[in-house]
Amino acid sequence: MASYKPKNILITGAAGFIASHVANRLVRNYPEYKIVVLDKLDYCSNTKNLLPSKLSPNFKFVKGDIESADLVNYLLITESIDTIMHFAAQTHVDNSFGNSFEFTKNNIYGTHVLLEACKVTGQIRRFIHVSTDEVYGETDEDAVVGNHEASQLLPTNPYSATKAGAEMLVMAYGRSYGLPVITTRGNNVYGPNQFPEKLIPKFILLAMRGKTLPIHGDGSNVRSYLYCEDVAEAFEVILHKGEVGRVYNIGTKKERRVIDVARDICKLFSMDPETSIEFVENRPFNDQRYFLDDQRLKNLGWSERTVWEDGLKKTIKWYTQNPDWWGDVTGALLPHPRMLMMPGSTHFDSEDGKETSYVSGPNQTRMVVPTPKGGSSPQKQSLKFLIYGRTGWIGGLLGQLCEKQGIAFEYGKGRLEDRSSLNADIQNITPTHVFNAAGVTGRPNVDWCESHKTETIRANVAGTLTLADVCRDHGLLMMNFATGCIFEYDTAHPQGSGIGFKEEDKPNFIGSFYSKTKAVVTTLDIFLFDSGFVCVLINSLQYFPG
Ligand SMILES: NC(=O)c1ccc[n+]([C@@H]2O[C@H](COP(=O)([O-])OP(=O)(O)OC[C@H]3O[C@@H](n4cnc5c(N)ncnc54)[C@H](O)[C@@H]3O)[C@@H](O)[C@H]2O)c1
Repeated sequence: MASYKPKNILITGAAGFIASHVANRLVRNYPEYKIVVLDKLDYCSNTKNLLPSKLSPNFKFVKGDIESADLVNYLLITESIDTIMHFAAQTHVDNSFGNSFEFTKNNIYGTHVLLEACKVTGQIRRFIHVSTDEVYGETDEDAVVGNHEASQLLPTNPYSATKAGAEMLVMAYGRSYGLPVITTRGNNVYGPNQFPEKLIPKFILLAMRGKTLPIHGDGSNVRSYLYCEDVAEAFEVILHKGEVGRVYNIGTKKERRVIDVARDICKLFSMDPETSIEFVENRPFNDQRYFLDDQRLKNLGWSERTVWEDGLKKTIKWYTQNPDWWGDVTGALLPHPRMLMMPGSTHFDSEDGKETSYVSGPNQTRMVVPTPKGGSSPQKQSLKFLIYGRTGWIGGLLGQLCEKQGIAFEYGKGRLEDRSSLNADIQNITPTHVFNAAGVTGRPNVDWCESHKTETIRANVAGTLTLADVCRDHGLLMMNFATGCIFEYDTAHPQGSGIGFKEEDKPNFIGSFYSKTKAVVTTLDIFLFDSGFVCVLINSLQYFPG
C-alpha cells in the first residue's frame, strides 16, 4: 500500500477536542513534519489542549478563522502547506437547533473557503476532510449491517446537514479540480479535552458536583463511543495510508444506550442511578442510532484499542484532576445548553488566573493579552433575574450573559399560561426583574405554528399577558422579547432605504400565524407598558423574510 509523506500540515480546529489530540500526536511522533494549527478560539476551544505541543519547534499556533480567505491563502503560501486536516466546525447538535446559520457559515462556507484556497494555490497533496457518522441519519434499531461509505446521506438535524453539505463541496472539488481529497465519518469520540456541553464530560462534571444527570427523552438512544487516542491514531493511519478519493468510516461495533452511559458514570462515582438520573425534554429530533461499517479502515491496519471501561476511567480521572480546565461552565451543564457562539467567549485560564493567548513557532512562544478578571460590582449583586425560556436560544443566551456578568439569575419553572405557577416562581426566587424569552417560535421552523395554533396562542398570547399581569401584581418590571418579524417593508420603509420601523409603529405583517400572535401581544404590551411594568424589546434576530 502506498505510503504518503506530508511535509507541512495545516490542522484546522486544533484548539478543540479531537484535533488537539491529533495535533499533539503528530507533533510528538513526527518531528520532521511542521504542524501549523489554525483555530478561531471559539467558546468550546482551549489553548491548554495544545500545551503538550506548545514548546515543540515543529509546532505553530495561529489564531484565525477559516472563513477568512486572505488568511487561509496567506498561510498556505507562507507555510508551504502541502496537507490539510480539516476539523474546524460548529459541532454541538443542541446549538444547531438554535442558531443554525452559524453552522452553515462555519461548516459549509468555511470549508468552501479552504477548498478554494487549495484550488488557487495549487500545492495541496492531501485534503483530509473530517465529517461525522451523523450525515447518514439514524440507523434502524434492528439493523445488523452498519452504514458503509457508499450509503446514502440522510442528515436529520442542522448540524449534520451542514456537515453533509460540506462533504458535497469536498467531493465536487475532488472531481472538478482534481483536489486529492479524503473524507472521514466518525462515531462519537470521548476523552480528555472535550468541552463539557457534550454528554460524557457533562455527566462527569455533574457527577463531580453531586448533581443529577439529565437525559434527553427516555435514554434509549444508542451511541457508539471511541476513545480520543484511538481516533487520533485512526487519523494518523488515514493521513499516511488513506487512498485519495475515498471515504473512511471511523467506527466501533460496540454500542451503548445513553441511559447505560449515565449508569456507568453513576457507578464509578458510587451514585444511585435511581435518584441520580433525571429524564428531561428530548431534542426536537434525536437520532436513535448511528451504526457504521468500519471494515475499510480496518483494512488499512487500524483497530480500536481502548475498551470502554478503561477509556471511561481514564476520562473521569482526567476531569477529576482538571476540574477548572474550562473555567465556569455552569451554562454548558444545563440539559439543553445554548452557548455564546462568538470568538472571545473562550477559556484561557492559566495558572495565575489571567487570560492568555499565545503564538508559538520555531523561535518563539509569546504570551500576549493578559486580561485580569474583574469581580462583581455591588450594583450587580443587588440584581436577581428570573428568566423564562431556558431551552430557547435567547433564553439560553441570557443565562450565559448573566453568568459572564456575575448577575444572579434563575430560570422560571412555571408555565406562562398557569398563573399560580408564575406566582410560585416569584415567591420562591424573589427576582428584581423578569425576562420573558419563552414562547412558541415553531422550532424546528416557523411553519409548525400554522398547524399548532392553539399551542401558539396559549404560549405567545395568553402566556405572555398572564406573565405581564402577574409581574404587575408584584410590582416587577418584565422585559418581553418580541420580534421584528411583525414588520415588512412598505412604501414608508422601502427595502434598502435605511428607514427602519420605530418601536411605536403598528405591526404591518401578520402573514404567518407566529407573527400574528406576536403582533397581537406587542400591541397589547404597549397598553401594559403605559402601566410602567412592561418593557418590550423588539429584535430582528434570525428573521429572514421569505
Ligand atoms: N466529537 C465527536 O464526537 C465527533 C464525532 C465525529 C465527527 N466529529 C467532527 O470532528 C471535528 C472536530 O470535532 P470536535 O468534537 O473536536 O469539535 P470541537 O467543538 O471540540 O472543536 C471545534 C474547533 O473548531 C474551531 N472552529 C470552529 N469554527 C471555526 C472557524 N470558522 N475557524 C477556525 N476555527 C474554528 C473551534 O474554535 C474549536 O476549537 C468536527 O468537524 C466534527 O464535526 C466530531
